[in-house]
Amino acid sequence: MDKKISPSLMCADFLNLGRELQELERLGIEYLHVDIMDGVFVPNYTLGTDFIKTLHRVSPIPLDIHLMIDRPDSKLDRFEMRPGDYVSIHYESTPHVERTLAAIRTAGARPMLALNPGTPLAVLEDLIPSIDAVLIMTVNPGYAGQKLIPQTIDKIARLRQLLDASGRPDIEIECDGNVSFPNATLMSSAGANIFVAGTSSLYMPGNPLEVNVKKFREAVK
Ligand code: DX5
Ligand code: ZN
Repeated sequence: MDKKISPSLMCADFLNLGRELQELERLGIEYLHVDIMDGVFVPNYTLGTDFIKTLHRVSPIPLDIHLMIDRPDSKLDRFEMRPGDYVSIHYESTPHVERTLAAIRTAGARPMLALNPGTPLAVLEDLIPSIDAVLIMTVNPGYAGQKLIPQTIDKIARLRQLLDASGRPDIEIECDGNVSFPNATLMSSAGANIFVAGTSSLYMPGNPLEVNVKKFREAVK
């Protein structure tokens, strides 16, 4: 499967965001990762509904909206979705997971199911028909700059096997959290194909985006 980069925009330089978005477009970046936190499901706040509208207006790159919010089932209509956008909800965030995934599809976007590091893969077996991708959290959600939880690499490999064995080799695997250049290589070999690139790679201070994107493509190929 094609390897895709999804830069974590909460790590971008907000004082130069317009220029950075143009640069990401020029570099052929596949997705823009937008972290939405509500201070309840995770102990932090980040980006919001108006930011999503602005991105839709200024960038042709599809969005990868990561909802780290409690009870997304009752709040989905607040988020502008476009065909081609991914919207992920957490298994742990609602008792109505299937209903919420189905509502994302009805709204015209692609449903993705996110799992915290402590949530076993077994919970997604009956949801496979309802999703286009799985987001494996490789740190606990809430903050940039954390350290990889090592057992999540094996979890990615077991997920790839489970999806292939279920006749769904087309379902994509995204990983999010401490996707450094060396960790991206491990995640890619384990079977992940969408990589959330934050402070540990693309937005590492020092190198321009172009250099880090090249390094990233090299790390996951
Ligand atoms: C939360 C975020 C973070 C972060 C990734 O869902 O997506 O995991 O920005 O960047 P790192 O972990 O490299 O700082
Ligand atoms: Zn995220």
